[in-house]
Amino acid sequence: MSNNAETLLRVENLCQYFGANRAVDDVSFEIKKGEVFGLVGESGCGKTTTGRSIIKLYNITSGNIFFKGIRIGAGIRSYQVAIEEAKKEYKEKIASASPEEKTRLANELKKFIAARQNDIKKARFDQKNCDKEYSKKLIQEVKEKYAPLLANGDESVKKDYRDALRKAKKAKLATQIQMIFQDPIASLDPRMTVREIIAEGLIIRGERDKKVIDEKVYQMLERVGLVREHASRYPHEFSGGQRQRIGVARAIIMNPELIIADEPVSALDVSVQAQVINLLSDLRHDLGLTILFIAHDLSVVKYFSDRIGVMYFGKLVELASSDELFKNPIHPYTRSLLSAIPLPDPIYEKKRERIIYRPLAEHDYSVDKPSLREIAPGHFVQCNDAEFKKYKAMLK
Ligand SMILES: Nc1ncnc2c1ncn2[C@@H]1O[C@H](COP(=O)(O)OP(=O)(O)OP(=O)(O)O)[C@@H](O)[C@H]1O
Ligand SMILES: [Mg+2]
Repeated sequence: MSNNAETLLRVENLCQYFGANRAVDDVSFEIKKGEVFGLVGESGCGKTTTGRSIIKLYNITSGNIFFKGIRIGAGIRSYQVAIEEAKKEYKEKIASASPEEKTRLANELKKFIAARQNDIKKARFDQKNCDKEYSKKLIQEVKEKYAPLLANGDESVKKDYRDALRKAKKAKLATQIQMIFQDPIASLDPRMTVREIIAEGLIIRGERDKKVIDEKVYQMLERVGLVREHASRYPHEFSGGQRQRIGVARAIIMNPELIIADEPVSALDVSVQAQVINLLSDLRHDLGLTILFIAHDLSVVKYFSDRIGVMYFGKLVELASSDELFKNPIHPYTRSLLSAIPLPDPIYEKKRERIIYRPLAEHDYSVDKPSLREIAPGHFVQCNDAEFKKYKAMLK
C-alpha cells in the first residue's frame, strides 16, 4: 500500500447520535484506494452505525463523509452548536461594549450566523442531492459521447444511447459502496430466491435484459464459490458460510469500489471463518476492491488489514498500521483487546494476562481534555497533554 494512493473515503468528525446516545462521536479516518481498513471494538461501540452512516442509511448528526472527493454525507449539528455558542459569547461582549462597538459586534455576529446558516444549507443539499448531482454529470458524459455517433443515425446506436442514458439517470454514487451485513440470516429475504436477491441491485440500477441479468448472477455465484444451480433456491437451504457468500455476491455484482464488511464472519464457525476471509482477500486482489472490515476482535483483522482503527464507546481511541498496532499498542483499551487474543504458543499462553480496561482509573480528563493525536508518523492515539508525553515515551 503506497502512501500516496488516492483517498477513496474520508470520514471527517462523524457524529451519529440517537437522542442522548452518542453512538458515534467525532470519528475521523480515511481509507486509501485498494486498502483494507479494519475497524474493531466491543459490542455496541458504534462500528455498525459508522458503516450505516457511510452508506447513507442515516442523516448523520454532524461531520462530513467524502467518497472520491464528493461529499456524500453531511451533518448540521456542529453548525447549530457554533451559532448557539457565538450568540452566548457575543451577548456578553455586547453587554459590556461602548455604543459604537455594540453595532460593530452585532454586525460581526450577524455575519457569522449567516455563514453557518449557509453551511447548513449546503450540508442539507449535499446529503440529499449528491446522487442527483452525480447522475447529472454522467448524463452529460453520455450525451457528449453519443453526440457524434448519433449524427449517423444507426438504429442500434440509438438503442445503446437510450440504454446508457437510462442507466446514467438511475446511477447513484451510493451503489459504489456496498455493505455485507453482520447477520447472514436476517439480511437475506427468506421469500426471495438467490437469483432475485443477487440481481436486485442490478434491476434497481436499470438493467432489464433478463439474459444479461441471469448470466451476471451465475458469474457472481461462481465467483464466490457457489454454483449456478443455487440460483433458484431460497436462503434457508444454505449454511451460514454459504449465506454469507450470497451476501458477498449481492455486493460485488454492483461493481462496487468500496465494500463495508460488517463482521462478515462473526456468526460463523471458526472453520468456516477462514474460508470467507480468504474469499474476501481473493476478491480484493482480483477486483481491486477497497474494504472497510468491521470486527469485534483484533485477531480476525490482524492479517487482513493494512491499517486498523480501534473504537471504544463511539470514539476512535487508536489508529495505526496493522503491524504498528500489534508491535506498539499504546491506548490501554487496545492493550486490553490484545490481551484477549489467545495464541497457539503454550509459553505465551502461560504468561498471558488478561488486561481489563478501566477508563475512570486510567484517565484523568477533568481538566486536560483528550483528542486524537499523532504520536508517531501514522500512529494516532486518543490522549490529553499529559498522556501524550507518557505514550510517546512508551513507543518502541
Ligand atoms: N437505529 C438505532 N436507534 C437507536 N439506537 C441505536 C440504533 N442503532 C444503534 N443504536 C445504538 O448505538 C450504539 C452503537 O451500536 P452499533 O450497532 O453501531 O454497535 P456495534 O459496534 O456495531 O456493536 P456489535 O458488535 O454488537 O454489532 C448502541 O448503543 C446501540 O444500542
Ligand atoms: Mg455491529
